[in-house]
Amino acid sequence: MAKLEAFPMTGGSGRYRYTRNSTLQRKVIESTKELIKKAIFEELEITSFSSSNTFRVADLGCSVGPNTFLAVPNILDAVKLKYENKGLVSQLPEFQVLFNDHVSNDFNRLFTSLPSERAYFAVGVPGSFHGRLFPRSSLHFVYSSYALHWISRVPKEDIGRFLNARAQEIVHGGLMAIVVPACPSGTPHADVFINKAIELLGCCLIDMVRMGVTSEDKVDTFNLST
Ligand SMILES: C[S@@+](CC[C@H](N)C(=O)[O-])C[C@H]1O[C@@H](n2cnc3c(N)ncnc32)[C@H](O)[C@@H]1O
Repeated sequence: MAKLEAFPMTGGSGRYRYTRNSTLQRKVIESTKELIKKAIFEELEITSFSSSNTFRVADLGCSVGPNTFLAVPNILDAVKLKYENKGLVSQLPEFQVLFNDHVSNDFNRLFTSLPSERAYFAVGVPGSFHGRLFPRSSLHFVYSSYALHWISRVPKEDIGRFLNARAQEIVHGGLMAIVVPACPSGTPHADVFINKAIELLGCCLIDMVRMGVTSEDKVDTFNLST
């Protein structure tokens, strides 16, 4: 099997670190909060597993934070609200959050920046989410934001492998929320955000050629399309 290349976000504390360059992804997390709360309230079947005293949340493609620490409390609050609403406060579980990304992700930075006041036990899970990462029927809520559309060898097959793995790992009654960029139906191609972003990237590459930072030949080999 061909070796899978991983392109994790830039870690460390330099100028180009992901924690300093992920405003777009943060806005996406903020704008999906209410949808996720609603889905948990309406779809999570806690009665199927309310006897379990640990509720496990997995964040797939978590990168190095702080975005991931924004999404987690929202999920936990929604789950607590659901227990309260079902009259199951006495069975409120403890929470464990499993942070996953490629092995080359800056997990050290992720761990050192974990919020000290967090109401959950944190675990790092290295490896590709295109395969199995967790024991069978062990996850109650799977969350993945701005990661599943990331580079993959064979997109359709990889999505299939991702869904197959999660089908085995999620408990009966559990839930999965996947956030990926998409084109709203009816929006003209030129007005779609991702296309505008790629056009901007193209302009930057041309400027870099003009400034002598890179060569025209290299830019011509850059293969990116939507
Ligand atoms: C744009 S970042 C998003 C990070 C974070 N979820 C957020 O919303 O800010 C995409 C992340 O997905 C991770 N990723 C991409 N493909 C992956 C895979 N096959 N397995 C695990 N992580 C993956 C990358 O390493 C990267 O950290």
